[in-house]
Formats: sequence, structure tokens, C-alpha cells
Amino acid sequence: MTIVRPPISAAAGSRPVLDVAKLRAEFPALQLKVRGSPLVYLDNAATSQKPRAVLDALTRYYEEGNANVHRGVHYLSEHATAAYDGAREKARRFLGAKEAREVLFVRGTTEGVNLVASSFGHANLKRGDEVLVSAMEHHSNIVPWQLICEERGARLTVIPMNRRGELLLDEYEKLLGPRTKIVAVVHVSNSLGTINPIREMVRLAHAKGIPVLVDGAQAAPHLPIDVQALGCDFYTVSGHKMFGPTGIGLLYGRADRLEALPPYQGGGDMIRSVTFAKTTFAPIPAKFEAGTPHIAGAIGLGAAIDYLGGLDREALAIHEQDLLRYATDRLSALPGVRVIGTAGHKASVVSFTVEGVHAHDVGTIVDQEGVAIRTGHHCTQPVMDFFGLPATARASFAFYNTRADVDALVAAVEKVQQVFGA
Ligand code: ALA
Repeated sequence: MTIVRPPISAAAGSRPVLDVAKLRAEFPALQLKVRGSPLVYLDNAATSQKPRAVLDALTRYYEEGNANVHRGVHYLSEHATAAYDGAREKARRFLGAKEAREVLFVRGTTEGVNLVASSFGHANLKRGDEVLVSAMEHHSNIVPWQLICEERGARLTVIPMNRRGELLLDEYEKLLGPRTKIVAVVHVSNSLGTINPIREMVRLAHAKGIPVLVDGAQAAPHLPIDVQALGCDFYTVSGHKMFGPTGIGLLYGRADRLEALPPYQGGGDMIRSVTFAKTTFAPIPAKFEAGTPHIAGAIGLGAAIDYLGGLDREALAIHEQDLLRYATDRLSALPGVRVIGTAGHKASVVSFTVEGVHAHDVGTIVDQEGVAIRTGHHCTQPVMDFFGLPATARASFAFYNTRADVDALVAAVEKVQQVFGA
């Protein structure tokens, strides 16, 4: 952990604060210049940048350890298998799972949700049943459920939210009915930043015997995850949003839940025995990992977990909360700028609109100043519909961002307003 004194941030109080400059030096992409300006990377909710430790782990695997896993008796294969299985153990610790076999490698959160929707849905959903999602879900926690509901004759029900972007827990409790077969809810909203009270939501669902899947894609980079403390049945994250490689993610499933599900895909490594008459399946986790896995990705994700594990995550969270407050205050102070998503409990995501300017124009002009943000519906069209907006601009912060990054964003938004005469 890299620390300096005295504190540079008011929010940090007397606690040693991050040496952000030193951390930034570990991320090659943060040294880039774009369009003649130093890159100000504020699109971390879309994907995070990667530290040298992750890049080195990927290169080392391909240069010195590349072989298939669980298949060879030769040295390299044993080496790759140990690294792959070792990454699963790191992931177990990261998620707080009881056993490594409860952690599956998937392509990302989207595949994690699709796996549960498909396997759980085929085993459990029938005509008239309900799947309960929230009003702030990403499309990847809506569409897989719609597909399986359509196939099984079940239907989606939706937990409503208020204008701040907070779920209405009283309404949620009422919606947990005898037909509800599963709740699928996001931990941290990608477009509003809201942190949902997952522990309480799981408690309410479990009181009625209903399992809960949590989309943790935006939580994992910001919050410590403990699936046992949350009590959830399934929890899924994407490696690339937590400083790891693309194309790899994790799906936690409590052992009894995973054991009860049918396989998701068929292929090598997920079988116990195959004849033309009948196939029997391997125990978890192999049952859900058909085909050659993303070995390099798993190892790279393990390196990202090690990297995060070497930092003081509480100090990261304090710094990110400072950035959230500072960005919210500075953007809100601009005439015509409105922050969308004002929940009391938020991660460092700030969606906003600029009066008289389409979000895409905001994004294009701030990019000219080297500031990278995301604009659009953020794969949450129902959230945009709720607020009556076509799109927002979104700045999303990681621990390596600074107040100077916020200042650059605000200056760039002022430029947008000058260009549009707003
Ligand atoms: N889900 C990612 C985002 O919010 C891609 O940008």
C-alpha cells in the first residue's frame, strides 16, 4: 500500500491517504495523451484501465506458461492448470465464498446472468411464475430473463424506484409473492451509481424462500464483496471492470444451488462420462465450464485480485467518495447541468445532462479536451425512460482518478456550453 502524509483530501481526515500519483504510474494507459492533451479517463464503469501487474501476468502466461488445462500430463499443462486453479482460489477469497468450487469462470457478468437465467429457468420456471428484477437493471439483467420467461410462459415483475434512484423496499416486499421464483438485482447501478441494500433485500426474499442473484459488475471495483455476509445465492462480476482483462468474469453460486442446476453448455471438461446413449456430468465447477476456458484471462484476473488485495480498499473507497462529492458539487454548480441519480448511498458514478445539448455532443466535445466519458442510455433504457431522457453523459471514477480530473471535466463541460451558447 502506497501512502503519503499529510492528507491532500478533506474527506480523508487524519487517515493516511493514497499516493494517487504513484498508483497512476502503475497504469500505462493513464500516461497516454489523446488529441494533444493528457488522457483524463472517466469511463471506468464501461471498463477500467489495467495495472502493469495484470499486463505482466498475461504476457508471462503466454511466453512461459501457455498450455491447456486439466488435459495434459506434461510440465506446461500442469503449470497452467495450477495457475488456473490458483486463480479460482484467489477469486474465492475476493468474493468471500466458502469453497472454490462455488466460483465459476465465465466471460463476464452478462454470461453469469445468462447462465443462471437459462439453467435456473429451465429447471424451475413454469407458466404463471414471476422473475423479479429492479427498475434500474442493466439490459444484461433484463433481457436474459425476458428470453427465458418467454420460453417458459413466466413474466418479469419490476421493483420500482423513486426520483433519486433508490429502490422502494416496501414495494419490493409486497412484490415477493408465491409466484416469485427468483430475484435478480443489481448491487451498484451503472447509470445512477446507487448502491442497493443487498443484504436486506436477500433477507426479505429468503424469508419467503426465494433465491437472489446479484449483478455485481459495478460493485466489485468499489466495494469489498462478501457473498456469505450478503447471503445471496448467486453473484456475478466482470474482470475488466475491476482492473483485469476483458472476456473473463466470475459467477458465484452457493454449492447446493449450483449442484441443483442443469449444465449451461455441453463440451469438453464438463463431463464425467460420454456414450452415444447417455452423458453424465462432472461435479461443480467443471459442470459449468465447457470447452477450453479463458486461461490467460483467469490468470490475469487473479493478478488483478492480487493487485487490489495489496491496496487499502478502505482508503480507496474514501478517495472515491471524495471524488464523487467533489464532482457532484462542481457539476451541479454549473447552470443548466443536472445530476441524474442522487441516492443517499452511491458509488463514484455521476450521470448528468446539460440543458439544450444532447449527451452525445457533450461526449464528443469533452473528448476534444482529452476527457473520456460515456454518453447514451448506458444499456439501461428503462432508467432513461423513467427520467424521461434519451441519454445522459456519465463520468465514472476509479481510485486512480483525481480532483484535477474532475476540474478537467468541468472545464470541458463549460466549453460545451460555450460552443452551444448555453
Ligand atoms: N455496462 C458498461 C457500462 O455501464 C458497459 O458502461
